[in-house]
Amino acid sequence: LAAAGTAGVAAGVTGWVTGIGTSTDRSEAAASGDPLTDPEQVSSRDGVLALTLTAAPGVSLAGRSTSALGFNGSSPGPTLRLRPGEVLRVRLVNELDQPTNLHTHGLHVSPEGNGDNPFLSIEPGQTFDYEIRLPEDHPPGTFWYHPHRHGYVADQVFGGLAGAIVVRGGPDLGTAADRPLLISDISLDGSGNVVSPGPPGRMMGRQGDLVLVNGQHRPVVSARAGTSQRWRLINTCTSRVLSLRLEGHRLAQLSSDGMFLPAPVERDRLVLAPGGRADVLVRPQDPGDYRLLTDPFDRGHPGMGGMGGMGPGTATATGPITVARLAVSGQSSAAAPLPGPLPTPPNSLRPGPVDNRRQIAFTMGMGMRGPGMNFGFDGRQFDPQRTDQRPALGATEEWLVTNSTPMDHPFHLHVWPFQVVETSTGSTTPDTLRDVVLVPAGGWVRLRVRFADFPGRSVYHCHILDHEDLGMMATVHVKP
Ligand code: C2O
Ligand code: CU
Ligand code: CU
Repeated sequence: LAAAGTAGVAAGVTGWVTGIGTSTDRSEAAASGDPLTDPEQVSSRDGVLALTLTAAPGVSLAGRSTSALGFNGSSPGPTLRLRPGEVLRVRLVNELDQPTNLHTHGLHVSPEGNGDNPFLSIEPGQTFDYEIRLPEDHPPGTFWYHPHRHGYVADQVFGGLAGAIVVRGGPDLGTAADRPLLISDISLDGSGNVVSPGPPGRMMGRQGDLVLVNGQHRPVVSARAGTSQRWRLINTCTSRVLSLRLEGHRLAQLSSDGMFLPAPVERDRLVLAPGGRADVLVRPQDPGDYRLLTDPFDRGHPGMGGMGGMGPGTATATGPITVARLAVSGQSSAAAPLPGPLPTPPNSLRPGPVDNRRQIAFTMGMGMRGPGMNFGFDGRQFDPQRTDQRPALGATEEWLVTNSTPMDHPFHLHVWPFQVVETSTGSTTPDTLRDVVLVPAGGWVRLRVRFADFPGRSVYHCHILDHEDLGMMATVHVKP
């Protein structure tokens, strides 16, 4: 990291969108207390889920009308529910004033043609028909969709364009409720206009000062003591790492990203990087009012020498933020039982041989291309024409993803889920597949991925979406 770049960033941080100290719980008294509502649900019929998604500005968020973006007039957009082996047909209508497209984050589907193709650009006023076919053996779980047009992704996701995808199946958990909780953040001015950050905020990854669940500010989830609920937590924040805890409760984690763990794991805290998901069982025992909180997460910042998190204007620098509240009614009761073994994807890659090894480095620095701080992999910024990695179809590969930059970056690979086999922090992860992993500043993650099917070209990138837009993305072409 060049000294000049460091100084430039440090001098610019005061211009950051959220300002100093805005993440304090200043609106605690104004908690709306509205019951949490689920986004509209659209389910498949006769093997097909067909719908139109119109991306346009002007939705209501946190109970007010705003310039934020939505699908079909709402943010988040509808929850899409379908089964393995079914087809998702989305007619995307672009009523934005900039190009967009659609990505089905975490789905194991073809990246080619009108599938989950991140290289498409749907221009303003245009319509495009996607056809996304889930394989018969697609894992059941929680996925999501959002725009992926390079250069506009952060603005559009921060603006509100996101929705849940539920791939049905898996065990009947006997829960009283099964609902997606899309956790987002945004900054709005007094007139409800979305506030965009300047270049320094983009470099650090913008964080809005309003944290929302399904577009609501501090909604209330109601539950009866002795029952359980399945919450499908999705971090749709552009850059904010969520460090979640529920007062008075442990969260029984069922899945990591879309994929089931071998068995539920009880946790006091759940860290979700941007793009990451976890399904949890909430099992209240005693009546009362409990806050779902996210604590500051120190992920380092450019120019802070990796000491991170305390720079001026960082929305992560102060206390916990209330995300939602759980209102438990009824009589104190024993906790609802936990399920036994879960249908983990059958392919643990940890013990087996690998066909190929690669090393991939997150890089930030001056002068890679153009002025200012540049973000990329292996010293290069994203070029959609260039192919960066060429795994063979059917190969199992081991990727060592390193990060010598002063901030954490969430690594995300499209289409082909991976298994984390080792990390520099020694944190152990259960044997399952996932699609986002936080690579700590100065550290590394070793993962294994099998390119078992779906030849074609796609991308891996930092899921701090500002970084992705600044070039921290690269291409992978899987060839027979
Ligand atoms: Cu959720 Cu390529 O992204
Ligand atoms: Cu993705
Ligand atoms: Cu990054």
